Amino acid sequence: MERIAFFDTKPYDRVWFDKLNQHYNIKYFEHKLNEDSVSLANGCSAVIPFVNDTLNADVIEALYQLGVKIIAMRCAGYNNVDRNAAKERIPVVRVPGYSPYAVAEFTMGLLLTLNRKIHKAYFRTRDFNFSLNGLVGFDLHGRTVGVIGTGKIGQIFIRICRGFGMHVLAYDPYPIPDADFSYVSLEELLQRSDIISLHCPLTEQTKHIINKESIAQMKDGAILLNTSRGMLVESEALLDALKNGKIAGAGLDVYEEETEFFFEDRSDMIKRDTILSLLVSMPNVVLTSHQAFLTTEALHNIAKVTLENLDAFFQNGTVSNAIV
Ligand code: NAI
Repeated sequence: MERIAFFDTKPYDRVWFDKLNQHYNIKYFEHKLNEDSVSLANGCSAVIPFVNDTLNADVIEALYQLGVKIIAMRCAGYNNVDRNAAKERIPVVRVPGYSPYAVAEFTMGLLLTLNRKIHKAYFRTRDFNFSLNGLVGFDLHGRTVGVIGTGKIGQIFIRICRGFGMHVLAYDPYPIPDADFSYVSLEELLQRSDIISLHCPLTEQTKHIINKESIAQMKDGAILLNTSRGMLVESEALLDALKNGKIAGAGLDVYEEETEFFFEDRSDMIKRDTILSLLVSMPNVVLTSHQAFLTTEALHNIAKVTLENLDAFFQNGTVSNAIV
């Protein structure tokens, strides 16, 4: 039986892998994969990392030296993988789309929470405070949403927004032919949207796509949603815009420097990231811990496709869903 090292394991990760796994001896490690923990893969022919694991050149070289034959990412994004380092060393596969609905629906959840202040109302009524002061939102119907990235998740988010009667503007350097929504330039999208939602991958081109300059082009009082990757947004510029009201609210499921914090209970941490502390303390920010993917369907599909990727490799010698 092939031995597989599974990194950054949480109880909810194991459920479907344990149910569906037939062929592998999976070693579940709570540690994230990095230079210090890579030796745990000793004796394993594959590793299963997640979004906040480190797969830089040193870690990949160490995996290669340990005899690891394949890296099976249990996620869609792969910005944490040094693909050049992996090339001609270890194939890297992923789960390209395990539940675009999970992420798109969660994005709308963030928007509704933020706009209608459901998070505040929840705490008020628990305290027997039934005042409505400060809870005024606006109708989404008739508003314009700008969607940056019209792949699997972006397209579903567009459909959801249309269900609310919103106008949609989209930007993507690789537009879908015959799309039934309008593509505009990034500049026009920034200028015309009441709500801007990020659904593109993190690449050299998209790093800090939301920065001081792009924020300056936005409508006053725009709302920003980011359920894609933290580095798409320059956090300090966002913080300034939230403070001066240029951006009226932000729904964030990801954060630039999330690796050290997200998925973990850090409530006893004294030395906290200053920008993250400020963001979570702001009344017009709803910040969640990279949980947009977290549905039963998504966890099932992640386990299913990851195990299929391993089967294809170990049983047929095929590399399916490869990124390298
Ligand atoms: P996808 O690959 O189907 O779509 C990405 C789209 O972004 C493509 O249409 C592509 O052409 C476009 N794009 C590429 N460069 C761009 C640029 N410079 N500007 C605008 N658009 C650009 O990916 P999918 O499945 O829709 O996922 C989108 C992102 O969502 C992923 O890259 C990942 O970062 C994030 N994600 C977040 C999750 C969470 O739990 N918060 C879970 C899963 C994905």
